Amino acid sequence: MKLAVLPGDGIGPEIIAQAKAVLLRLGLPLEMQEAPVGGAGYEASGDPLPASTLSLAKEADAILFGAVGDPRYDTLERAKRPEQAILALRKELGLFANLRPAQVHAELAAASALKPEVVAGLDILIVRELTGDIYFGTPRGIRTVNGVREGFDTMRYSEPEIRRIARVGFEAARKRNKGGSPRLCSVDKANVLETSQLWREIVTTEARAFPEVELTHMYVDNCAMQLVRNPKQFDVIVTGNMFGDILSDEASMLTGSIGMLPSASLDERGKGLYEPIHGTAPDIAGKGVANPLATILSAALMLRYSLDQSGAAARIEAAVKKVLQDGLRTADIHTPGTRKVGTAEMGAAVIAAL
Ligand code: IPM
Ligand code: MG
Repeated sequence: MKLAVLPGDGIGPEIIAQAKAVLLRLGLPLEMQEAPVGGAGYEASGDPLPASTLSLAKEADAILFGAVGDPRYDTLERAKRPEQAILALRKELGLFANLRPAQVHAELAAASALKPEVVAGLDILIVRELTGDIYFGTPRGIRTVNGVREGFDTMRYSEPEIRRIARVGFEAARKRNKGGSPRLCSVDKANVLETSQLWREIVTTEARAFPEVELTHMYVDNCAMQLVRNPKQFDVIVTGNMFGDILSDEASMLTGSIGMLPSASLDERGKGLYEPIHGTAPDIAGKGVANPLATILSAALMLRYSLDQSGAAARIEAAVKKVLQDGLRTADIHTPGTRKVGTAEMGAAVIAAL
């Protein structure tokens, strides 16, 4: 099994080092090859996604990704900015389906900004479309019309794009097996946007193939509110690229820390890129205090979805649960009465618990 490991910028290298150590300890025939990406790619070759990094990613069975971005590069032209690397990887590899689970570990309910009873036991999945929408729609640009400068982007979804992500949503709902009947909530802005009107129509049609899944629709503004009012009403949410970006950050906070959330980005055959949903956290980079658990849990998703190693995935998830039960906490999830540890100590504890 060939893995492309792309640590990236900021805390990326620190958290990836821990995930790699955990993977190595499993004793699986994993061949890991590392390559620079983001600001590190720009430093190495003048391009946030160097050609050699892209071909490594294309040849690998799966990709483990840290994070990209650094304020140092904010003044570069857009094509050279670190964020372009992850956008290009998603597009080039056809990684259209982004799965972002948000689970509240019972031990961390007190770390959430919401009341523990609102979030305890929460287990939702956001399925975000990742290669379309206003992120990639053309035309886009900054132009001058009648002497006035304006910026413009295009929100756009084709019927096949909507259909395939809707199917991922329905299938994910069907597979989750949380007990009770599976539910899918499709989130759009159909009261205002044409794109959303088509979205709603196609998702509704697709529902016929999944009679066991109960489909509802919700406007994105209402969804943002419901997520903090009563998040447990949701099971699986399916939505477009832009709404999914925003709602998944919001959902991460329900869990106590963005440092806990893994994600999988899959193509049509199940090959995937796995990354924590948090960013590079430049303010704490290099200090050895970042939470490696989102990345370690991303490695678990990788084993399950792309490498057919669900047993090993479950071992990692159980080990993470154990260290949380033992009271170990990085700074982002630390609460009184628990033991504050750094990145390396957290990684070592997961390995010990395997
Ligand atoms: C994410 C990030 C990216 C996105 C950025 C880094 C381009 O926010 O993965 O959610 O907007 O998709
Ligand atoms: Mg985001």
